[in-house]
Amino acid sequence: MEVVLLPTPEDCGRVVADAVQAAVTSGLGRTGRVNVGLATGSSPLLAYRELIRRHRDEGLSFAGVQAFLLDEYVGLPAGHPESYREVIRRELTDAVGLDPAVVHGPDGSAADPLAAALRYEEQLVTAGPIAVQVLGIGANGHLGFNEPGSSLASRTRVKTLTEQTRSDNARFFGGDVEAVPRHVLTQGLGTILRAGHLVLVATGEAKAAALAAAVEGPLSASCPASVLQLHPHVTVVVDESAGSQLERADHHRYVLAHKLADQGW
Ligand code: GLP
Repeated sequence: MEVVLLPTPEDCGRVVADAVQAAVTSGLGRTGRVNVGLATGSSPLLAYRELIRRHRDEGLSFAGVQAFLLDEYVGLPAGHPESYREVIRRELTDAVGLDPAVVHGPDGSAADPLAAALRYEEQLVTAGPIAVQVLGIGANGHLGFNEPGSSLASRTRVKTLTEQTRSDNARFFGGDVEAVPRHVLTQGLGTILRAGHLVLVATGEAKAAALAAAVEGPLSASCPASVLQLHPHVTVVVDESAGSQLERADHHRYVLAHKLADQGW
């Protein structure tokens, strides 16, 4: 696992964009097709803005990309502005020329959410591996919507949100906790582990404890993001605030300062 500690959230956005760009261009170069895993929430927004800028100003092409979302609320009607399908369309995929037909997510508006979860897991298996998966982390250590206690081997399924997550996300629903759905569909931790490269981005003091637990704490379902420790290719991109509780922060800065020129992310 590489932990990249950077001065500002904008720096973090650029490194995440670098990692996505590397997977997209190498995948497209090899086969003309590539699967990219996208997260919603506020953490990846600066990376998405940077990808949009590179698409617009530098000709970064997303033709041949299929995008797959991590998670979705259950019960929001299709087209609801806070459904993750709509959020990602608004924040990234429209602006980089990805047709909604190649942007996939679990169907939170399905009459049978349990069946929708199984369908999405199958769709991910059939589509083949995700080359790069962008991730945020919840203040309680959740990954996707895998709340504490989630099996480290879990697959896409229905989960019930903690009250903390509902209140954390109320800001997207006009501050009204009651408007935040109780149930969600999320890729499981085992599903996420199948991606080729996991890139977690976290900024701000509110993520510091969860980030330290994920990176330096024990591997435990109590901190779902600690499952990253099992994966062979993880890049954790954090600003100084989110990294402020890392005991090995000095070592991470040292590693970054001595990175080999062609080492990549
Ligand atoms: C949300 C999402 C996660 C996200 C996390 C952090 O509820 N389901 O995918 O990574 O919680 O959100 P934010 O980036 O807004 O802090």
